[in-house]
Amino acid sequence: MIVAANFKMNKTRKETIEYLKELKKIDFEDVVVRVYPPCSALIEDEIVGAQNAYPANNGAYTGEIGLEQLKEFKIDKILLGHSERRNILGESQEFIAKKFNFYKEQNFEIILCIGEKLEVRKKGIKAVVEVLKSQLEGIDLGYEKLIIAYEPVWAIGSGISASVEEIRQTHLEIRKMTNQPILYGGSVKLSNIKEILNIQNVDGVLVGSASLDVEVFKKMIEIAKEIK
Ligand code: PGA
Repeated sequence: MIVAANFKMNKTRKETIEYLKELKKIDFEDVVVRVYPPCSALIEDEIVGAQNAYPANNGAYTGEIGLEQLKEFKIDKILLGHSERRNILGESQEFIAKKFNFYKEQNFEIILCIGEKLEVRKKGIKAVVEVLKSQLEGIDLGYEKLIIAYEPVWAIGSGISASVEEIRQTHLEIRKMTNQPILYGGSVKLSNIKEILNIQNVDGVLVGSASLDVEVFKKMIEIAKEIK
């Protein structure tokens, strides 16, 4: 099981250090834990990854960080394609694929996020699969360090996760495309994580808001430990 925390634009460097210290008080056993803090809080730690980076070593890319900055903290994990970057920051599929290929070349572990908007979900699974496929264009689905995160846009931060049946059906469709781990993300909470982790083809979760409280995130890891 993989349990990953996406802090988004939350927490300072000091808070992240304290969080990690507290988190490490528990034994993860065979649960793979990941924490994605903002880039100003990157820390050399085997569980820490970057939420984003530009596909270049360094250069004239104002406001961005690249491989050189990640290497300073020995970061070799990255989150790509999050819906907030696709929709708010306007990242195209072409650009996401460029980032994927650059960081794949560097042997990074890559969580690639995909997910449909509500109007697509309303049309049914066929339309959903079509969108997901378009979000996987240019991505090597056989890359051994690839992790897919299925995150329906309408479930992110809304407090309402996708239903068990929606997750089961969608993960089954993604499974037909890749053998790599598939996470679910979108309003994962203490109250629904067990149910979600027990769904077939769910290999873990990507947690936003609920991960910000380290005590909650610790409990989530404890729940994941019990699922074999
Ligand atoms: P959420 O965010 O848990 O706050 O819904 C999940 C995500 O965007 O990764």
